[in-house]
Amino acid sequence: MRPHQGAADFAANPVPPGAVPDLVICERAAHTYGTGITAVVAVHDVTCRVLPSTRVAITGPSGSGKSTLLHLMAGLETTTAGALWWPGLGGYPLAHPGRIGIVFQGPSLLPALDALENVAFPLQMAATGDHDAKELAWDAMRRLGITDLAGKLPQELSGGQAQRVAVARVIAADPALILADEPTGQLDHHAGGLVIDVLLQAADELSAGLVISTHDPLIAHRLPQQWTMNDGRLLDPTLTPTGMTTARSAGRS
Ligand SMILES: Nc1ncnc2c1ncn2[C@@H]1O[C@H](COP(=O)(O)OP(=O)(O)OP(=O)(O)O)[C@@H](O)[C@H]1O
Ligand SMILES: [Mg+2]
Repeated sequence: MRPHQGAADFAANPVPPGAVPDLVICERAAHTYGTGITAVVAVHDVTCRVLPSTRVAITGPSGSGKSTLLHLMAGLETTTAGALWWPGLGGYPLAHPGRIGIVFQGPSLLPALDALENVAFPLQMAATGDHDAKELAWDAMRRLGITDLAGKLPQELSGGQAQRVAVARVIAADPALILADEPTGQLDHHAGGLVIDVLLQAADELSAGLVISTHDPLIAHRLPQQWTMNDGRLLDPTLTPTGMTTARSAGRS
């Protein structure tokens, strides 16, 4: 695909030294699954920015494109129209953005490993030494106040405890951007609230951007910002193309 004009502009006008670059810029980004009569336009014409200070909940009906947008932001899917890029996560062009942690909906822990081993596992895969990986994992669990869960197997954890371990696994890798897809979808309000608390705490401690999707308006309102998706579109009057122009112009000055 030909680079979108916005992305090309950015390549020619990188963020000046000292400015905090956006973690993610979406400019009229779209994603269509499949082709022909089976094509599904999951995300359409989405323009938005994610900054290190972003703490946003995306709400919207089932099928409105929330997960697809998060997958685009994570680099797990690519845009089929428009552009999405990661100025603060390695510049442009960038095939695969680094330092993005994802919390998935539902169980994601490896059943044969205890909680500490689950948190350490991705670090070990990333070639951090075994000892260092366990230390970083322990530190992440300590920050979230869940070291008492370290030796438990996933089957011994409640849904809320397992999600907090999954958050620890993400923050142990020191992400600059945390994406959480319905992290409280299977939890009651109390357990869901605790998971949101640890996500907000982690984002603040790491100065990381935080984007979560949720069906639950009460959960969404625990975050300072709310965006709404409907039918693949992001509905937010503050996220106009004019705002995008301002953002990119600021990067050039
Ligand atoms: N892998 C896929 N192949 C084809 N279509 C898909 C795929 N994933 C999602 N879709 C379709 O894309 C649209 C958006 O789906 P998406 O999962 O992004 O919505 P969502 O807002 O996250 O929904 P939910 O709240 O149910 O999780 C839906 O119509 C869905 O059926
Ligand atoms: Mg979804």
